[in-house]
Amino acid sequence: MIDGKTKLICLLGHPVGHSFSPNIHNFLFKKYNLNYKYMCFDVNPEKLEDSVSGIKALKIFGANITVPHKVNILKYLDEISFNAKLIGAVNTIKNENGKLVGYNTDGIGFVNSILEKGYKIKGKNIMILGAGGGARSIAVEIANSRAKSIEIRNRSLEKANNICGLIKDNFDIETNTGDLNIGQKDLESIDILINTTSLGMNPNINSSVIDENIKINNDMLVCDIVYNPRETKFLKWAKYNNLETLGGIDMLINQAIEAFYIWTGIKADKKELESIL
Ligand code: ATR
Repeated sequence: MIDGKTKLICLLGHPVGHSFSPNIHNFLFKKYNLNYKYMCFDVNPEKLEDSVSGIKALKIFGANITVPHKVNILKYLDEISFNAKLIGAVNTIKNENGKLVGYNTDGIGFVNSILEKGYKIKGKNIMILGAGGGARSIAVEIANSRAKSIEIRNRSLEKANNICGLIKDNFDIETNTGDLNIGQKDLESIDILINTTSLGMNPNINSSVIDENIKINNDMLVCDIVYNPRETKFLKWAKYNNLETLGGIDMLINQAIEAFYIWTGIKADKKELESIL
């Protein structure tokens, strides 16, 4: 029921029609009996500043921010969390009595997915494929979780070097960069391999960031942040090599659970959410 006390949480993005976030959050608000509603707003880039003024004027309680606004939103916020500042992108806002505070839950969502699966990050060698926004948030949170080393491989080396520079400046962790031409030897000492490139994403489901003829005989965990399709060609390659895998849907759910916690103070139960997605 919507009444005079209903708190509104909104998604600002462009486009927003494909988003799972309203399903996730409205389900959780109902489940925890909270008088909140979640709605999506398709905001053109030139209207972002007006939208933020609207959030303040209407006392909207919180928001998620998605593509293409995650970076540009920073300049309109009153306060930004330490991690979001390092990542340089915000995906969650809380309106604290008129002060808009920005957070980034993407990387935390990913790290939580790995920990829930029973894997450790502390002391491990991690390779990240890709150097876009997803890679940046994951690299920061993995560094924060005290990995031993982070190697970033990307088509454009400059972006990979950029992320490694950021990690080196803020954490005491070995870093490396390289291109996407990956051979078996490069993966020998890797504990966790993560695809953050858009290769394999619907409709390009037949592309993969890795040569499928590469054979692996260690026991690394292979993760993909792409969630459509659920099982990418990259993950199929990992399964063929008898490796454990983690798909993008987990990160999607866990970043939402973190945002939900920021707004409500409640740690939502993940199991039921998997069924609605
Ligand atoms: P996100 O915010 O989801 O990380 P993004 O910032 O657009 O998305 O990053 C997409 C990543 O996929 C980048 O690392 C990009 O490589 P470049 O930095 O060289 O552009 C990578 N990517 C996209 N298409 C690719 C392709 N055809 N081959 C290799 N890498 C690709």
